[in-house]
Amino acid sequence: MQAYAIIKKKRDGERLSPEEISWFIEKYVAGEIPDYQVAAWLMAVYIRGLNAAETVALTEALVRSGQRVDLSDIAGIKVDKHSTGGVGDKTTLVLAPLLAAAGAKVAKVSGRGLGHTGGTIDKLESIPGFKTALGPAEFVSQVNRVGVAVVAQTETVVPADKKLYALRDVTATVDSIPLIAASIMSKKLACGADAIVLDVKTGSGAFVQDPGTARELARLMVDIGKHAGRRVTALITDMDQPLGYAVGNAVEVAEAVETLKGRGPLDLTELCLELGTRMLMLAGLATNAAAARARLEEMLWDGRALAKFKEWVAAQGGDPRVADDPGILPQAPQKIPVSSPRAGYVVQINALGVGEAARVLGAGRARKEDAVDPAVGVVLAAKVGTEVEAGEPLAYVLARDKGADEARQLVATAYTIAARPPKIRPLVRAIVEK
Ligand code: URA
Repeated sequence: MQAYAIIKKKRDGERLSPEEISWFIEKYVAGEIPDYQVAAWLMAVYIRGLNAAETVALTEALVRSGQRVDLSDIAGIKVDKHSTGGVGDKTTLVLAPLLAAAGAKVAKVSGRGLGHTGGTIDKLESIPGFKTALGPAEFVSQVNRVGVAVVAQTETVVPADKKLYALRDVTATVDSIPLIAASIMSKKLACGADAIVLDVKTGSGAFVQDPGTARELARLMVDIGKHAGRRVTALITDMDQPLGYAVGNAVEVAEAVETLKGRGPLDLTELCLELGTRMLMLAGLATNAAAARARLEEMLWDGRALAKFKEWVAAQGGDPRVADDPGILPQAPQKIPVSSPRAGYVVQINALGVGEAARVLGAGRARKEDAVDPAVGVVLAAKVGTEVEAGEPLAYVLARDKGADEARQLVATAYTIAARPPKIRPLVRAIVEK
């Protein structure tokens, strides 16, 4: 086989065989196909697309490039969730202990944040002492003992995706539906869960802003998962404003704790219950959505979800007192209000702008080598639909020594205030199952 012929075939809109795709990825990872040829192939794929069979072949080739996480020593159905990336999305911090409290096995491998979206691992590391690197035996043993473990993705899981993603990032080929689907699903499949709930975000703060395209992505990922013998459900959810009020790291942990106590923001609580319902059903622990939801609500109200959170944090070396006293989490020295320029209703909060503000403060990264500051971030005071007076705080910027002015400006620009109240859109736009 020849890289040139494979590029030409895709450039001309022909279908590639699984063997051709597999060979191409294998040789790329082995360093036998140079970046410039892979870049040309990515652009051909971007323009011509991949059909379902080609996307499955690409996903499988990516999985084969690295090691699979072996969860076979964990009894029962292992459940996982994945969000395509959002601002203020701390659902894993709530769902992991909530599902474990309800009897599911949550063995989760998570990523760090990049750009305007935060990562679960960065958030967890803001808990004093919390270790996100566990050896494979320790990981499996903790899930068997506690019901939940969340670790950082290592270099050995799907190395081909890492290489390919870096190239997509600089060749304007990130936002291709089959490339996104193969990238996400290769990591989910390699991480071994039997049941996966996908949270596909749509709206201003999402990777895929248009709901129709989000549905197409959801459909494709569900099909890839099913083809690999996994149980998969996707929810298409709104990311037209940040989720909850807190955007950052320690502040998101504090908000997740409130949610586990049953007093979290409505949108965050609702999304956790919707995603959790599907996770519980896929795990075979509930026969219908109403029963699953009632069970999860009970865990939130009676303290079992919070107790599981403490047990989980302690098992990974973290200080479980964060659940009783969020004051022990890192705190930013400055809290600067961003005031409303006029009276009216909040009709839009550009999630991308708020995410960007958190990033310039140091809560996220511009480059993957950057360190994050756990203490800084943004806390919203008004969400879409809130009526505000002129001069009333819309949000607070939690800053240390950098980026405060720029962040304040970004947050102010993210808000749109109008004379009439907005139409509130549903949080869950659609569910894709089959
Ligand atoms: N997230 C991923 O992991 N891969 C993509 O291609 C896009 C979002």
